[in-house]
Amino acid sequence: MACVDCHMPKKRDKGITFTDHRVMSPLANIEGTCQSCHTQSKEYLVGMVTSYQEKIGEMKIRAEDVLVKAHIEAGAAWKAGAGEQEMQKALTLIRHAQWRWDYAIASHGASFHAPEESLRVLGTAVEKAGEARLEIARVLAKHGVTDPVAMPDLSTKEKAQTYIGLNVEKLKADKEAFKENVLPKWDEEARQKGNLM
Ligand code: HEC
Ligand code: HEC
Repeated sequence: MACVDCHMPKKRDKGITFTDHRVMSPLANIEGTCQSCHTQSKEYLVGMVTSYQEKIGEMKIRAEDVLVKAHIEAGAAWKAGAGEQEMQKALTLIRHAQWRWDYAIASHGASFHAPEESLRVLGTAVEKAGEARLEIARVLAKHGVTDPVAMPDLSTKEKAQTYIGLNVEKLKADKEAFKENVLPKWDEEARQKGNLM
């Protein structure tokens, strides 16, 4: 089995069979992808994909929750006067937890491509970020901070962006300028040649 079996299904046009080069979600064409091998219904197949995605999405949120808390507590520890040496163990744990999150989530497709492996990796991310929080609590206590570190309100994407100091408006404007001034106008050229709908 290869990527093309699911992401570039076979297509027939003017008597020629070829692989569809508009690489896209296999769910956009179940007959041409999943059902070229599976006899189950569309509903069953889509249900398998979404059920994996929901379960892994839940573990992703758990890992993010612990990771964010560990980051914010580490910030509090630096502020309380912690030094590089005493933070080393916690920093390594945070990094290892973050890498695991990246590995399981950043490729996007992993929740379907490798569901068990994604869950295993996210499980260890939760574990390592939790260990990091324990380490940081020890460092904080050494510096006289024994109360829980206050957590900011990160209930929406906008609030989280404001908290980390991201200037979204500027980033959007930069992106527009990049599209306008730097990117070749491939879509426009293709549309003129009638190659793009
Ligand atoms: C057995 C079918 C299958 C095979 C083989 C497969 N994929 Fe996927 N892939 C999927 C499904 C299903 C999704 C989730 C699609 C969705 O959520 O709409 C997905 C998602 C993705 C995504 C994420 C797209 C997004 O927008 O989030 C990428 C990238 C991806 N696959 C790349 C690959 C690559 C590269 C290969 C080969 C190494 C591959 N896939 C092989 C079925 C497959
Ligand atoms: C090239 C053939 C092929 C394509 C295309 C394909 N599959 Fe599969 N699929 C298989 C094979 C072979 C197995 C393993 C069957 C086994 O081990 O008994 C499998 C296994 C599965 C399983 C695991 C079943 C289980 O009980 O663990 C799921 C779920 C699944 N496929 C869903 C999909 C979905 C959804 C798509 C479309 C995105 C898809 N497959 C596309 C051949 C394919």
